[in-house]
Amino acid sequence: MSRNPFAPAASVSAALASRRSVRAFLDRKPDPQLLRSLLELAARSPSGGNLQPWRIVVLGGEVLDQFRATMMQRLATSPAPDAPQYPVYPASLDEPYRSSRFRVGEMLYTLLGIPRDSKAQRLQWFANNYRFFGAPVGLFCYVDRGMGSAQWSDLGMYLQSLMLLLREHGLDSCPQECWSVYHTVVDGFVDAPANHLLFCGMAIGYADPHAAANQLQSERMALAEFAQFRGI
Ligand SMILES: Cc1cc2nc3c(=O)[nH]c(=O)nc-3n(C[C@H](O)[C@H](O)[C@H](O)COP(=O)(O)O)c2cc1C
Repeated sequence: MSRNPFAPAASVSAALASRRSVRAFLDRKPDPQLLRSLLELAARSPSGGNLQPWRIVVLGGEVLDQFRATMMQRLATSPAPDAPQYPVYPASLDEPYRSSRFRVGEMLYTLLGIPRDSKAQRLQWFANNYRFFGAPVGLFCYVDRGMGSAQWSDLGMYLQSLMLLLREHGLDSCPQECWSVYHTVVDGFVDAPANHLLFCGMAIGYADPHAAANQLQSERMALAEFAQFRGI
């Protein structure tokens, strides 16, 4: 008898509840074959018209070391960001979004012991982004330039699926839009086709459970603030 495809799945809940953005990693490499299988399974994510618009590049080992060196060189010699290809945030971030963004930053920097007025220390810590927070694997997510906002939302579905699958295997991640600010470095290194646009990166590895940054449990709005139920 074939397995019932509509039987309840074992537990997405545990993966979802335990996912958080991890910003410090152990010096332990994930199995490359496992990573391949998770990237493949994540592609079961839905996409409008089944376009599957995600285009992924994964770096590890010596290639990732070379990439980090290339990025460090750029930051050292020409730290000004590239012309943006898309706005990471709206030009004017109104409430409640503005406070939410501010709050998570404050929580992180409090955990790190970096005072509010120490902009230099904050910037210095932020620069860890550009080393993939020391993760053994770095991923980039591209999309065809012809795709619109609907397809960009499909990218999010793919990336979230991947992050949950990583959790199922004891791995963690941090999605990183910060890479979009230096897209020319990434594009050049991975030899991205001209019609591909970099959406974000993702650090992947085993979380350092003791790192201060990894203690951050970001807050969420109450259900009633973002959802309405009518007739239910
Ligand atoms: C598309 C995307 C881009 C992000 N970019 C960055 C980034 O560049 N650097 C970073 O430290 N965190 C980044 N984050 C992580 C968010 O700050 C984080 O998801 C949010 O604060 C909620 O916290 P949580 O992921 O721990 O639940 C990004 C998240 C998403 C979804």
